[in-house]
Amino acid sequence: MRHIILLAIVYALILSSCSHEAPNNLDYELHKVIGNTAPYTLPKSTDFANIPQSPSNPLTKEKVALGKMLFFEPAFANEAKYPAGLGTYTCSTCHVVEAGFRPGRMQGIADGANGYGQIGERRHKMSLYANNEVDAQGARPLSVLNVAFVENTMWNGSFGHTGPNATTRSAWGITDVFTKLNELELGALEGQNIAGLEVHRMMYTKEIIEKNKYKAMFDAAFPDMTEEERYSRKGASFAISAYLRSLMTDEAPFQQWLKGNKNAMSDQEKRGAILFFGKIGCVSCHNGPNLGSMQFAALGVDDLFEHGGIKTDINDARNLGRGGFTLQKEDLYKFRVPQLYNLGDSGPYFHGGSKNTLEDVVRYFNDGIPENKRVPKEQLSPYLRPLGMTEEEIKDLTAFLAKGLRDPNLQRYKPTHTLSGMCFPNNDLESQIDLDCR
Ligand code: HEC
Ligand code: HEC
Repeated sequence: MRHIILLAIVYALILSSCSHEAPNNLDYELHKVIGNTAPYTLPKSTDFANIPQSPSNPLTKEKVALGKMLFFEPAFANEAKYPAGLGTYTCSTCHVVEAGFRPGRMQGIADGANGYGQIGERRHKMSLYANNEVDAQGARPLSVLNVAFVENTMWNGSFGHTGPNATTRSAWGITDVFTKLNELELGALEGQNIAGLEVHRMMYTKEIIEKNKYKAMFDAAFPDMTEEERYSRKGASFAISAYLRSLMTDEAPFQQWLKGNKNAMSDQEKRGAILFFGKIGCVSCHNGPNLGSMQFAALGVDDLFEHGGIKTDINDARNLGRGGFTLQKEDLYKFRVPQLYNLGDSGPYFHGGSKNTLEDVVRYFNDGIPENKRVPKEQLSPYLRPLGMTEEEIKDLTAFLAKGLRDPNLQRYKPTHTLSGMCFPNNDLESQIDLDCR
């Protein structure tokens, strides 16, 4: 009885928002399976009060503005392995806006590669660099969209001192030297990005910052930081982290639907969403505001070395998931539940890039048969079992993922130019041609 009254209220509320079309049965059904919409509603990128942030680095518009430039600025690509790589790459080489902040190809390669194409798909290793000399990792780059909602970053959740990591102190700095940064308790992103700037061969000094015309922006962003910290990887990381926290996909059709625009999603997308939140139960893991979560699960998917990844092999600690970080047996082969927005912008999918399309991913879940024989049965998620979806249900669920969760306006997160005047996100000759910079 209480349920019926509640639903009647929900229904009346929907009807009363008269600027929109009256809801149909699918809207009613979707509200029923979602329940309270608040936990899934993303804040706007400027709504700093409602974006999770670190007390060590409160969000300000000056920090976000600076981070928005640095993420795309090749002038700081100054620790390249060979002179040919200098000034050619950025964070956005592997986190391409048009590819949903993923690399637009199977693996991200920054220093040591050339080319861009349309969304990063034509990037390829330079012959000058040996495989093990390029900047590339043994897992698919995660999207940085909605990353403010990721308490412990990376596929293995190794960064950050709170949440699931609060009980992992003894592992910090052991399997990954950079996780020692967790001890500084700066925030998962703030710590990770200090390490990231080193890993991705970018150095920040006062001299380099001044030369490329960023001093005024650093001064506006960090008036209270000592100069030594401000003009360093720490200042740069804090600005980039603030920018990353502002990357919300709040204009996606599903987000608009949550806010009352019942026409934002097609009937097919709504049917897919009903499956996702209802009987298919994707939401049991994908349940945060970003439709990811801090749960770790083994789906038994292949690793990147099996799908063309370079600088990685069967012994890569990344293949072990959470267990490669904590060294706990129960964590082996378990990966963090990733966010699901704008995945339709580019594949492939899963940490090893083993599925080319979102429909392939849905079919993998529907079949429930692990593809990676190295993952012991007892580690596998019990969710991995045949789900019995019909062909139509597979298409519906795929449409929800591909279109319902696609923010069409990510260009708002991209600067119009760099202060150095360099071509971005890549600045090698081939990319300059691809990007019409010449
Ligand atoms: C060479 C490609 C490459 C470059 C360049 C790169 N990244 Fe990444 N990024 C990755 C990969 C791969 C991962 C996932 C690694 C893992 O979890 O094992 C990742 C993950 C992340 C994450 C974690 C997201 C999450 O949900 O946990 C953040 C944040 C991030 N990158 C920010 C940056 C920043 C900032 C820069 C520039 C300093 C940068 N990246 C440059 C490849 C790259
Ligand atoms: C048991 C928890 C769990 C459930 C339930 C679950 N997922 Fe996932 N999902 C994960 C994990 C963990 C990954 C990452 C696995 C990996 O790459 O090793 C993932 C990855 C994905 C990806 C690929 C993301 C990327 O960045 O490559 C998509 C898409 C996805 N899930 C959609 C779904 C859909 C649709 C359902 C329902 C049919 C579902 N998931 C149910 C845990 C879950």
